[in-house]
Amino acid sequence: MKIVMLGAPGAGKGTQSKKISGHYKIPHISTGDIFRANIKSGTDLGIKAKEYIDKGLLVPDDLTIALILERLQHEDCSKGYVLDGYPRTIPQAESLDAALATKYEEIEVAINIDVPNDHIIKRMSGRRACLNCGATYHVVTIPPKIDGICDVCGSKLVLRDDDKPETVEKRLKVYAQQTEPLIEYYRQKGKLKTVDGTKGMDYIFKNIIELTMSLD
Ligand code: AP5
Repeated sequence: MKIVMLGAPGAGKGTQSKKISGHYKIPHISTGDIFRANIKSGTDLGIKAKEYIDKGLLVPDDLTIALILERLQHEDCSKGYVLDGYPRTIPQAESLDAALATKYEEIEVAINIDVPNDHIIKRMSGRRACLNCGATYHVVTIPPKIDGICDVCGSKLVLRDDDKPETVEKRLKVYAQQTEPLIEYYRQKGKLKTVDGTKGMDYIFKNIIELTMSLD
């Protein structure tokens, strides 16, 4: 099954993508995680991406599209994938559809996690991320077992640079301008399913499985 996750920054795309990936046994591909791994290891891509990410801007399409289309060629994608944070612009969505069409394939469903902006701002200030393994926590709703330490790999947890309040506001503006139009893009293709992202994580996950199980 090929799934696209939509939703504002902090809507819970990463949280739900990990659960979906486990449930359907398909890879979770997060462009944000790929960029952060490249930033951490100091690659050329990471150096370029950091310039944009730290300002709350999208990484340009010419860097992002080639990266993801190459990743989708890997063997682990043969039975599908959950795309978290991709596409984020109409050109990204169109190029993805065009690449899939050459193999007579298509995205089966786009899941939009709907969360109002005031909820998002509260969530982001409490998020703590592990830059080593990609696990995420929240100081109130999902605290780690030991304060400031990742349960999975034992690394130190951090507040991401782009989760500072002024950058979150910029990311929300960029989302409204460049990414929100994808909701209409997938609606017109009859692929859009929307879930209420203000509910609890397990409730949202159950809802997503109900909406996707007939596609498996
Ligand atoms: P990326 O990492 O994808 O950031 P994002 O989309 O802004 O998403 P987030 O990771 O911030 O949030 P999320 O929706 O995954 O929420 P999460 O599950 O963590 O990208 C980072 C940057 O890279 C972008 O800004 C851009 O610059 C660049 N980039 C990436 N992809 C790109 C692309 N395709 N094109 C161009 N540039 C690109 O949850 C958030 C918090 O809330 C957590 O603490 C979590 O524990 C908590 N939480 C989750 N669900 C719930 C719930 N139901 N109730 C209470 N708390 C919850």
